[in-house]
Amino acid sequence: MLLEIDGLTKHFGGLAAVSRLDMQVNKGEIVGLIGPNGAGKTTVFNLVTGFLQPTRGKVVFDGKNITGKKPHVIAELGIGRTFQLNPLFADFTVLKNVVASFHLRPKSSLLATYFNTATYRRNEAYILEQSREILQLVGLDTVSDELAKNLPHGYQKMLGMARALAIKPRLLLLDEPLAGMNPDEIDFSMAAIKKTRQQGMTIVLVEHNMQIMDLCDRVVVINFGHKIAEGLPGEVRRNEEVIRAYFGGEYVA
Ligand SMILES: Nc1ncnc2c1ncn2[C@@H]1O[C@H](COP(=O)(O)OP(=O)(O)O)[C@@H](O)[C@H]1O
Ligand SMILES: [Mg+2]
Repeated sequence: MLLEIDGLTKHFGGLAAVSRLDMQVNKGEIVGLIGPNGAGKTTVFNLVTGFLQPTRGKVVFDGKNITGKKPHVIAELGIGRTFQLNPLFADFTVLKNVVASFHLRPKSSLLATYFNTATYRRNEAYILEQSREILQLVGLDTVSDELAKNLPHGYQKMLGMARALAIKPRLLLLDEPLAGMNPDEIDFSMAAIKKTRQQGMTIVLVEHNMQIMDLCDRVVVINFGHKIAEGLPGEVRRNEEVIRAYFGGEYVA
């Protein structure tokens, strides 16, 4: 098991944004965490990645208790994530956005950078090569010299994913990867996510859009911070409580 969430709880004042959530993710899986707006999905990601401290509960990654650790420590341990508000370097090229993420890793020492040593230059060449590989994986290699700000919305979201991949994560958390996309962009992005998984990546994705279920091996549904269903996408789609919570009873399967 790669990720184990155990009794995870987060209170904001009187509001229980996440309540006693149990959730497991196995290596190589794509698990969907779905639920209506305000259900607590982003809060779960913030708790797992150390951006928020839980009120109660435990997060174990690859056998290691990471509860309450700092975001950069958790990133170094191998959890990459995207953000709903997708922060990019708008005036950098697509390629440079990914290269910049590599430099957020602690590995390249400042001194080596300063003296522009052979080791550093080799490292730079390596980073460029790796960045190009990531762009190819997510289908952005053809626009690598465009400025990030000039990309269509869907491509910008996938650039956010490319940047998360630059830390070489073993687990990738995607927060609403399809939000605001048109149907072409959704196809493009779903293909990129599928391909990333085929390369062996384990993925948890939070989505409002039910279409994402087609990508998932398993789905966990939360509503008002509580898990209300879990299972195969086909099962969860037919679950009465999910239909009621998610679609206010209007959904016809
Ligand atoms: N930092 C915060 N302070 C107070 N309330 C918050 C904070 N973050 C989220 N919430 C509340 O917690 C609930 C869950 O939010 P969130 O996890 O963002 O939901 P989702 O991502 O499923 O739409 C919402 O009611 C939201 O208003
Ligand atoms: Mg959210």
